Amino acid sequence: MKDKLANRLGGAPVVPLIGENDPARAVATAKALGEGGLSVIEVVMRSDDAQKGMEAILAETDGLIVGAGTVLTLDQAKSVRASGAEFIVCPGLVDEIAEYCLAENIPLYPGTMTAGEVQRAYALGLREVKFFPASLAGGVPMLKALSSVFREMRFMPTGGVSAGNLADFLALPSVLACGGSWLTPKDAVEAGNYDRITQLAKEAVDIAQSAR
Ligand code: 3PG
Repeated sequence: MKDKLANRLGGAPVVPLIGENDPARAVATAKALGEGGLSVIEVVMRSDDAQKGMEAILAETDGLIVGAGTVLTLDQAKSVRASGAEFIVCPGLVDEIAEYCLAENIPLYPGTMTAGEVQRAYALGLREVKFFPASLAGGVPMLKALSSVFREMRFMPTGGVSAGNLADFLALPSVLACGGSWLTPKDAVEAGNYDRITQLAKEAVDIAQSAR
């Protein structure tokens, strides 16, 4: 899975977040993103039925790589994995989740925003982390500084990334991909305006292609 994910992110280094509680809407959103060229999708576990939405996307779509985000505990990590999550994203770094994912070979992106957190991730054996919340944590200048010392580390900036600053983040060689919810605006999902989501995905793919 690690290679498949790396290849896919190499082609389109953007990971849209789906935060929809309704499984049918989550599936429609995922399909719209896939049509726009973004096929690595993070479903955030922030509502009662979010996990059901992730399961529905896995069952009802083809060709997408679907992971679970906002995973807070080891039990939750095991649960989303049992539901089929192909990668796991956490807002912070929890050693036991990192150890579980490393042992099970599950791609993990734990949130980090300080040199100490990145170094702890490095010491645990991780070479990819989320940089969160990217804009508040110092944005591109902070990421440049972290990248200069953690030369093997690859980062996924998320939190405050948008079409307006995507190119700046992707210009850094240490950036594996950027994540964000700007691709799945709540009003578009609620209105069933999935064409807009496809358009936003296409726009992100175009930005990424020009930035790299
Ligand atoms: C996350 O879960 O990583 C962030 O909440 C996403 O931040 P964004 O909504 O600013 O993209």
